[in-house]
This record gives sequence, C-alpha cells and structure tokens, in this order.
Amino acid sequence: MAKEKTVFFCSNCGNESPKWIGKCPACGAWNSYVEERVVTGKSGGGKSLLPESRLESKPLRLSEIKPEKEERILMPSSELNRVLGGGLVPGSIILIGGEPGIGKSTLVLQNMIRIRSRKVLYVSGEESAQQLKMRADRLGADGGECYIVCETSLERIFQHIHNNNPGIVIIDSIQTVASEALESSAGSVGQVRECAASLLKYAKESGTPVILIGHINKEGSIAGPKVLEHIVDAVLQFEGDRHYMYRLLRAIKNRFGSTSELGIYEMTQVGLREVSNPSELLLSESEEELSGTAIGVTVEGVRPLLVESQALVSTAAYGTAQRSVTGFDSKRMNMLLAVLEKRVGFKLALKDVFLNIAGGFKVNDPALDLAVISSILSSNVDMPLPKGVCLTGEVGLSGEIRPVTRLEQRIMEAAKLGFSTIYVPRLNLKGVSTDRFKIKIIEVARVEEVFKGLFG
Ligand code: TYD
Ligand code: MG
Repeated sequence: MAKEKTVFFCSNCGNESPKWIGKCPACGAWNSYVEERVVTGKSGGGKSLLPESRLESKPLRLSEIKPEKEERILMPSSELNRVLGGGLVPGSIILIGGEPGIGKSTLVLQNMIRIRSRKVLYVSGEESAQQLKMRADRLGADGGECYIVCETSLERIFQHIHNNNPGIVIIDSIQTVASEALESSAGSVGQVRECAASLLKYAKESGTPVILIGHINKEGSIAGPKVLEHIVDAVLQFEGDRHYMYRLLRAIKNRFGSTSELGIYEMTQVGLREVSNPSELLLSESEEELSGTAIGVTVEGVRPLLVESQALVSTAAYGTAQRSVTGFDSKRMNMLLAVLEKRVGFKLALKDVFLNIAGGFKVNDPALDLAVISSILSSNVDMPLPKGVCLTGEVGLSGEIRPVTRLEQRIMEAAKLGFSTIYVPRLNLKGVSTDRFKIKIIEVARVEEVFKGLFG
C-alpha cells in the first residue's frame, strides 16, 4: 500500500519542505519543522469556493436553537466531577497533563475500574496488562467494565475501538501513540497532533468521551500537552511535589465548566484519596510556638486554604546574601524583602533568607504576602507570632496592604479551623459587617502596623 503523502511545515512561518530540516531557510528558526499529512482534495486553487450543491448544515438564529439538557457521565470521584464541571460530557475530549510519576494513570484507572454504566477501553502504551492488573488490584476494585489493551499504533487502536464499541476511551499516554501515516516517531509534535486530531474526530462523531493522558516536563512543554491545548475541550493539570503526598487537579481550560475549580487528593498506598478539608492537613500540628512561621489564608480556585509560610533568616556568612524559595515566587519574595528594608529597617544585604511553603504547595495567590513577610520578620527578631493568628493581604511596593478577593470566605475558613485572630486589609472591609464572624478581626493598612501588632 502506498503511504500517504506527508510534508514538513515550519511551525514558525509555515514554510514547506519535503524532508525535515533543522533550520528554516525562510525565517531562520531552529528545530521548528513539524510533519503533517497532506490531504489531496479536489478543491484546486483559484476555483470559486461557492458550492454548487446545497449544504446540510444551516445557520440558525440563536433564539431558534433548542436548548438540550446536557447529559453528564458521573465519575466515581467527586473531586474529579467538580473539576470537570459536573461530570464527563459525551463526545468531549479531555487532556490530563502532568509530570511523569505524579499519578495520572492512577487517577484515571482508579475512576475507570469503578464505572459500571459504560464499557471503558483503556489503551495503555506505557504499561503492560499485567502491571495494570496489579495496580487495579491495589486500587481495590474488581475492574467492572474496564477493558485493557496495550497498543501504540493509532490505526490498530481504531480497530479495537471499532470491534469493542466502548462508551469511554482512555489513551495512556498520547505521547506513545503513533500513526503509520507519518514517518516521525511517537511523541513528536506532528504525531501528537495527528493522533489527537483523529481521536477528536472520533469523539465528536460517535459521542464517546475520550480522555488523553499526556506528560509534561518541568518547563511545561516537550512535544505534548502544549500543542494539544487548543484542540481538546478541557485540560486538567495534575500537579504536586512527588515527595509530598498532596496532588492538585486543576482545570486550565474547560469548555463545559469553570476553570477555577480545584480538586485535592492525597497519594496513599491504595491509590488517591480525596481530601475534602485540605487546610487541616496543611497546618503543622505542633503545639510549640516557633519563630519563623506564619499562617496565611489563600484561595486556590474558589476554595479558601490555610497554608503555612516558614522562613529562616540568618546572618549572611559570605559576601552575597543567599535567597532560596520553594512554593512561592522568588521575584515576589525579593520584592517583599525590599519593602521590608524600606519600611521596617530589615537589613537586606546582610541576611540570608530561606522561605518555604509547607506541604509542597505552590501558591500564586498574592494574599499570602502578609504571611510571608510575617514569617520573615518573626525569624528575623526570633519571636514567634502570637498564638492563633493568621493573616491575609497583598503587600504593595510602598508597604501598603492591598485588598484581596473573597475576604469573607477566608475569614470564615480561618474561624472554622479555630483561629482566634485574623489580620485583614483595611480597604477590604468597607461595607462588610464583621460582628457575625466568631474571630477577632484586625484591620491593617501598612506593613508597619502588622509588625507592631505582632511583635509589639
Ligand atoms: P502513576 O499513576 O503511574 O503516574 P503517571 O501516570 O502520572 O506517570 O503513579 C505514580 C506514582 O504513584 C508511582 O510512583 C507509585 C505511586 N502510587 C502510590 O503511591 N500508591 C498507589 O496506590 C499507586 C497505584 C501508585
Ligand atoms: Mg502513567
């Protein structure tokens, strides 16, 4: 059988070449050539695009379109349902991305072996059927209607789909699948795109939801999820530190729901466990009061979350002061240190500063600023924060405390977890009645006030 024709295109400028080349002669970009299949259609150049025959699809006024009750396939994990926006939509194509070893296969398999209402075809290109069986046993379910096939050829995967007529298809992972029509190897941008496009077509035509699993490296790319993001209906990112137990499932894109939902899991011996009250897990239990720690109230997605900021400030031993940050933006920490130097006389150049967000979480919420500077100050003066205190607020360049989003939710979460005092931005509280909260609220407008309030 003659192979279909493929050509290489520069993904930067669109220049075409019959074979792969490292540097584009047209635009000079390096390593930008991607293999693509060319469809030789009848529509020649220069011909009028107006068709002779009548079309089947017809534009409708918005008011003429009948709303259909959206059907959802419920997943056994309620956290997954929430992140998906209320379950899997028939005919949708979902990408679950994450670093290798984070638990993507576990998450998907754990859910699929508990589905009874539909036949599931789990295509694995990474693990053998034996390995998957062992894992499923560990995850504690008999497997239900889940069928496993180890296959990496796109054409044969479609044969299996045709023969088995599944209700849900899982591809683990999209980087291992290759179409015979392309010469490039599995995992290349061209292959990933081609395979995903075929699966997308199948999902839309048959109404079968398809879940793709994809790896991303630390930098967030490598021939995979990034090129797929615009093709698929939803992108869920599974993240966390492999050395910690917690895993976050975030929707980065979702055509059927909100992207602010967040699912929290804990990796255990028997698979992923849902964490419904994450704040309790993130706070260290110690009764002792230690200097250098402060509790901040952040919001991840729409959920308030209490996290612990830990700082160690010591005299710089060598010429240049060291800065080391985990779980927080290092540029932001440098900015906060500069604010501290200007406002409360923190001698920046003479101190080493180490900052860590406990639990292996990465926090982007600027409302953690106040907890970060409090932990740094606490370590600097070697005095613990008063007991039962938490803080929320963004710090501006001139040392002002800026308002945060969802303040009431944050206060309520802190009160629920038994904190006695919360520091909040003064500007936030306009028009909010504070008497109903069972927690002491201290309003602050400047960094100096926080310092005075905490350490006298
Ligand atoms: P895996 O789902 O294979 O990761 P990915 O598909 O994202 O590459 O699993 C990752 C890790 O999870 C693996 O190192 C072992 C661990 N694990 C557990 O701790 N408990 C379990 O029950 C399972 C199934 C895996
Ligand atoms: Mg895997």
